[in-house]
Amino acid sequence: MEQESAALALGIAGQAAREGSRTEAAGSGLLFTRGDAGCGDVRLTVHQLAESLGNAIDARDPHTHSHSDEVAETARVTALAMGCSFEQAEMLHIAGHLHDIGKIGIPDNILRKASPLDDEEWEIMRSHPLIGANIIRPVALLAESGGVVDVVLHHHERWDGKGYPHGLAGRDIPLGARIIAVADTLSAMLQTRPYREGRSFGAAVAEIVRCSGSQFDPAVVEAFVASLDRVKHAWPAGGQAPAFMPPR
Ligand SMILES: [Fe+2]
Ligand SMILES: [Fe+2]
Repeated sequence: MEQESAALALGIAGQAAREGSRTEAAGSGLLFTRGDAGCGDVRLTVHQLAESLGNAIDARDPHTHSHSDEVAETARVTALAMGCSFEQAEMLHIAGHLHDIGKIGIPDNILRKASPLDDEEWEIMRSHPLIGANIIRPVALLAESGGVVDVVLHHHERWDGKGYPHGLAGRDIPLGARIIAVADTLSAMLQTRPYREGRSFGAAVAEIVRCSGSQFDPAVVEAFVASLDRVKHAWPAGGQAPAFMPPR
């Protein structure tokens, strides 16, 4: 595991110093170790809650069936391929369920628009990472232990600094957010919108590879490509036409 991912994991550095004897990865706060007894139950409950909230936002957009589930699972597989621990990958999976929760604050006439957004509408749409981070920030367990807030806030940043909301570049972007960016793009490109046909799995992967080093962290793309078999396995129809997606 690259040292960065151990230290920064999903963007929460610094807790290692407070934890003393814990490893950097564990100390980064991804393990829900605050209180040992029953932490598995807590993690399961948080996962289930995140999944239901992800379903809620997916339900608002008729064109994005299971988008949050797809992002969550692709992010988990990619995180494991990067050498993240099971617990870190699980945390990123939860972040995947929640990454677009801020869209709950986007008006229907923009979120459900059947044609491309104009500049003004895009400006409103681009507020969803900040809205989402603010929605989940009160959940102390997530905020303290996972960096999920940071992942949600920065999931539309780009490696070259041309993303939003803060225009962070390179490794200033939390690693978890860099992973979610690839997973999010894969799911988005496979889905058919009213104004464009969804791409094939192979075409979507080729586009992600093409954007390595500009939109995406090359290390994340490399891990993603190296784990394509597992990514496909995580999708019911081997990445060609996932069963939970609308027919096209
Ligand atoms: Fe899940
Ligand atoms: Fe998003």
